[in-house]
Amino acid sequence: MPVEWAGSGPELLVTIDRGRGAGLRTQLEDQLRAAIRAGRLAAGEPLPSSRELARALSLSRGLVQDCYAQLQAEGYLTSRPGSATRVAAAAMPATGAPPRPPAPAEQFPVADFRHGVPDLSLVPRQDWAWAVREACRTMPDAAFDYGDPVGPVRLREVLASYAVRVRAASATAADLIVCTGTQQALGLVVGALAAAGVGTIAVEHPGSGRTLGPLAEAAGMTCVPVPVDGAGLDVTALRRTGARAVLVTPAHQWPTGVVLTGARRQELIAWAREHDGVVIEDDYDAEFRYDREPVGSLQGLAPDHVVSLGTVSKSLAPALRLGWVIAPGRLREPIAHRKWLADRGSPVVDQFALAVLIESGRYDRHLRRMRTEYAARRDTLVAALRRHAPHLPLTGLAAGFHAVLDLPAGADEQQLIARAAHRGVGLYGVAGSRPQLVLGFGNTSRREIEAGISAIADLLP
Ligand SMILES: Cc1ncc(COP(=O)(O)O)c(C=O)c1O
Repeated sequence: MPVEWAGSGPELLVTIDRGRGAGLRTQLEDQLRAAIRAGRLAAGEPLPSSRELARALSLSRGLVQDCYAQLQAEGYLTSRPGSATRVAAAAMPATGAPPRPPAPAEQFPVADFRHGVPDLSLVPRQDWAWAVREACRTMPDAAFDYGDPVGPVRLREVLASYAVRVRAASATAADLIVCTGTQQALGLVVGALAAAGVGTIAVEHPGSGRTLGPLAEAAGMTCVPVPVDGAGLDVTALRRTGARAVLVTPAHQWPTGVVLTGARRQELIAWAREHDGVVIEDDYDAEFRYDREPVGSLQGLAPDHVVSLGTVSKSLAPALRLGWVIAPGRLREPIAHRKWLADRGSPVVDQFALAVLIESGRYDRHLRRMRTEYAARRDTLVAALRRHAPHLPLTGLAAGFHAVLDLPAGADEQQLIARAAHRGVGLYGVAGSRPQLVLGFGNTSRREIEAGISAIADLLP
């Protein structure tokens, strides 16, 4: 006999049918996920407490708590001690639909602190156009055929030697699979891991659960959250999950900005060796480091256990859709096979163009310029906040182009975001366990940073 939720809290169309084959937790999770995707549960909306929902549906409270924790790991829900679990601000809008495209800049005429995007007005258009022309001029006729699905050997050689030189990776062309960015790379790797019998994959929390969760679900895997502290991923907590794979961002943790410490790196690699585990290293932000010694990639420390993912989305532009995987031997063929199944390989002219750009030195020159520019923006942000909100800690500044602003416990992150939007300033929350803002400055000029912070100064708690 199906049991429906009919509590006094928010409207929720959830039905648990004990006669159905699917487990109770799966039923609840699937329905909440579907309601969020379809927009029936809107961003910011509170969910019933686990106690209330458990009582109404005749479930154990632990089951409801597990379900909420899972959806939190996947990025659908967010919760803070002492306040209701809510639908995350950035939860997926519709079944199977990609995340909504970024808000147009006009929505935030004063400043948009959106994260994850480089400066789109400084994309090296001339250099890229030159590189495409050079590629077309120099590519042999045969290169215009269907190519190797993992990418032309020329680009793989260039990327491998770049990774060895700049990231202290351990790689040759044979270890690389070129793809259309981290998003595709993750899908391919997760598929290969599922086929190899990995049933549980862990993800940093807060972290990339919103990206990894649906991919893991589609591959029949469970995705579990593991907390991040001031030293990076909590490896002791990882050990308790029973996961055989984990997704991490060691160079600049997404979103807290913490750099994984040397001791934690060693612990993580020891975990992988003991459990025949796989560490997926998302190296997305490694090009932009400021006031600390360069930290090499994890992959270089344990090439048999680390899959490293690279992308040009931050270094050049997301629109190029170019990335790569450096994979241990046992995963290479399964990943390559999935790449062939997906699209027979990424666009070849663009891949030759990237090789030309890197070989010519123009790629490094662009990175040097951007590093100087982003460092200046970071200084502007630090100075503006020191002036207007000196009591709020700003962290995660060692690399990349976002920082994290801690709000006092109990501050209403969502309300602050809404009020800032009214003043033409785009702010974004971490969606973690405490109120924090991620302040992106990749696509925000120094002038906009100044104007944006001063426009919201009196709103900061
Ligand atoms: C944590 C993280 N890694 C990597 C990427 C880059 O993804 P892609 O290469 O698919 O553009 C993003 C994009 O925002 C990200 O947030």
